[in-house]
Amino acid sequence: MSDIRFDEKVVIITGAGNGLGRAYALEFAKRGARVVVNDLGGSGSGEGASSSAAAKVVAEIQAFGGDAVANCDSVEDGEKIVQTAIDNYDGVDIVINNAGILRDSSFAKMQDKDWELIYKVHVDGACKVTKAAWPYMLKQGFGRIIFTTSAAGIYGNFGQANYSSAKSALIGLGRTLAIEGGRKNILSNVIAPIAGSRLTETIWPEEILKATSPDFIVPLVVKLCAQESSENGSVIEAGAGWFSKVRYQRTQGLALGTDSPITAEQIAQQWHKVCDFTDADVAESIVDTFNAVSKYVGIDLLNAKK
Ligand code: NAI
Repeated sequence: MSDIRFDEKVVIITGAGNGLGRAYALEFAKRGARVVVNDLGGSGSGEGASSSAAAKVVAEIQAFGGDAVANCDSVEDGEKIVQTAIDNYDGVDIVINNAGILRDSSFAKMQDKDWELIYKVHVDGACKVTKAAWPYMLKQGFGRIIFTTSAAGIYGNFGQANYSSAKSALIGLGRTLAIEGGRKNILSNVIAPIAGSRLTETIWPEEILKATSPDFIVPLVVKLCAQESSENGSVIEAGAGWFSKVRYQRTQGLALGTDSPITAEQIAQQWHKVCDFTDADVAESIVDTFNAVSKYVGIDLLNAKK
């Protein structure tokens, strides 16, 4: 198999001053891409700003002869980041939405600011950068987009009501853009990394940080962004050299029908059927939900038109 190259491709990587984003930036530049290294340069909880994080990574790339430009705007100003790509490289082909912060607290103690800031950076930020890049991708009939969720976004996690729900939102966004962009060769995928970085260095011991180096996530993102890739709308968990696609399963369920009113007691009595994963269906799209309703209840939602 030939090497995956990104010559002439313009890649925007948000939050590329540290951790995962920095590792992506170095690798894409090594593989010939022109890289917009975005980083606001604030703290891990989203306070402050500095231009040094992005500038440092650009200098690292230029030191080995790579092509990169710094951008220090917040992802909340996504259009400015895309403008940097247009001004310097006359286009945008790949967007890696990676910028992130943590503001963990139990739901009881969570402040409005903890909720709002997490949503601004993760959800608004990823949406704004991608929205500004989208028209260019549509026009050229090519685009690769990565969203970064988390195991917390897939499964929930204690102390992360704000973070996990924002990360869940990115799954919805990524999967919908996969549907809207797929026909135009704009492929969107969502990764849930586990990586040693400043977000995790305070909680993990040294050997775990080493085993979960961002370098073990980089090849996944390179593969998903390759010109030849056809993967679209997927959620991939990865860490320490492990890569795994996540999908939804649905039980055959309890179908009581609509001929007569349904009581809570009836459902309670047969709750085991709602929860029994024997012969579970794999559900990949909203069509599968509509099909299930028609299969189990006999109502054809798929062809329903007023
Ligand atoms: P990191 O803290 O090393 O890097 C994140 C970068 O994003 C920082 O350089 C920060 O300055 C930048 N950033 C934060 N807010 C920004 C904003 N408004 N605009 C532009 N840049 C901004 O963290 P790490 O671990 O590399 O995280 C990268 C992504 O991966 C994040 O979205 C994080 O939530 C996600 N993630 C990381 C996991 C891990 O185990 N490290 C687990 C699951 C998800």
